[in-house]
Formats: sequence, C-alpha cells, structure tokens
Amino acid sequence: MSITCSPVRARTLRRYAQFRSGDRALEDLLSSLEPAPAVEQLSGAAVVLRRFARDKLSALVAAVNEITTGAPFRNMITPGGFRMSVGMTNCGRAGWVTDRKGYRYEPIDPITGVPWPPMPDAFRHLAASAAEAAGYPGFEPDACLINLYEPGTRLSLHRDENELDLTAPIVSVSLGLPAVFLFGGNSRSDRPRRILLESGDVVVWGGPDRLVYHGVAPLPDGDDPLFGNRRINLTFRKAL
Ligand code: SIN
Ligand code: FE2
Repeated sequence: MSITCSPVRARTLRRYAQFRSGDRALEDLLSSLEPAPAVEQLSGAAVVLRRFARDKLSALVAAVNEITTGAPFRNMITPGGFRMSVGMTNCGRAGWVTDRKGYRYEPIDPITGVPWPPMPDAFRHLAASAAEAAGYPGFEPDACLINLYEPGTRLSLHRDENELDLTAPIVSVSLGLPAVFLFGGNSRSDRPRRILLESGDVVVWGGPDRLVYHGVAPLPDGDDPLFGNRRINLTFRKAL
C-alpha cells in the first residue's frame, strides 16, 4: 500500500508527533511521508542538501542541550571590541573563539577553563555523510562551532579562514527557525545569493569555494516545534 500526503500536511503531522514526543513509530511513519532529501547545486563546489538531517532532529537537539550544559552559549567580543549578537559555543578538539586578541581556535573553553565537550558521534557521522553526499569523501571534522540565533540577530558577511587545513570543506547544519543564508563569492563585494534554509538543511562548500563570503540575514520571529523561537547552526570544520 502506498500512502500519499502533501508535504505541508506531512510536516504538520510530523510536528504534532514531535509535540507528543517519544512516539518514535509515529514520527518515523510521518517522516517517511515527507519529500525525500534533495541536492541543490549552488556552484561546482557548493551544495544545499535539503532535509538531509531531518530524521535526526530529535537526537541533534538532545546533543546540543547536553553540550551547552557543559559549555554554555556566550556572546563573544570581536577584535574590534563589538559584542556579537549571535551566541556561540563549541564541541570537538578545537573551539573557535574571538576576543580582543583576535580570532583563533582554542582547545580549552576560556569561560569554563576546561576542554570543549567532545564531538558526539552523531555529529561526526552527520558531517562526514553530508560531506560525502556533496562530493567531499573522507571529511574528519575536529571542530564544531554551535551558533545560537534569536529573532533579530544576524551574522555579517565573513569567510572561515582560521583553519589550518583549507583543503577540507565546511559542513553547515541548520536547525530550528528558517533563516536566509547569504552565500557570496570570493570577494566581499560580490553580491550574495539569498538562500532560505530550514531545519535539517545542510550546506557544504569547499574546493574553489572554500573561502567564499557568507552570512545570515536578521532572523525573523517564529516558533519551531523542537527549537522554539531560535535557530541553531552547527558548523563542522577541520581546524587543526
Ligand atoms: C557561520 O558562518 O558561522 C554560520 C552560518 C549559519 O549560521 O548558517
Ligand atoms: Fe562562517
């Protein structure tokens, strides 16, 4: 027997199942009614993997909650002295930090004085399988930056350039509220494309696009069944 259901209705039903939390069989059935993951090529070296992480959202929210119990979100200071509106923390062998001394990776969380929480296996596998699906096999991230966006917060155009190994791609997992991702070019003045990213979408870029400028437009208000009025982004990198 085949069951058909419109994507919108499937999503509504799935949200209902998530509210009832714990009904895995119902959740699995409903997620099987959603549109399948799809690959959207942004360039020869960058893709959006639509819905790639959608069947892992409950596990990912639990992992984020556990990490942020040990290493809470904080609003870091830029080298220029501005406090970032996006909350940040890390897991993995190295964590990205910024303060008056500059941008860099640190093995120790400067707030807690102990190493960042280890990267959960579920994170590592998700990042490696997304990279492989995007054409970058063998990705072994050692750093995961976790960003917290509340309505109104934004991330200005920047490039990820503090990593030692620029041959590895960037894998970026969107969770919670939808946001407009700004995907620019190799020059800051290249007008960025605006790409709506929803919970479970994964963007991967590397190769000739490894140093593209990117950012996030101000986050609109909303209510996500698992993440409330927040968006969380996991950025996996090979930093060391
Ligand atoms: C980042 O570039 O650090 C995060 C991008 C995003 O939140 O989508
Ligand atoms: Fe970035």
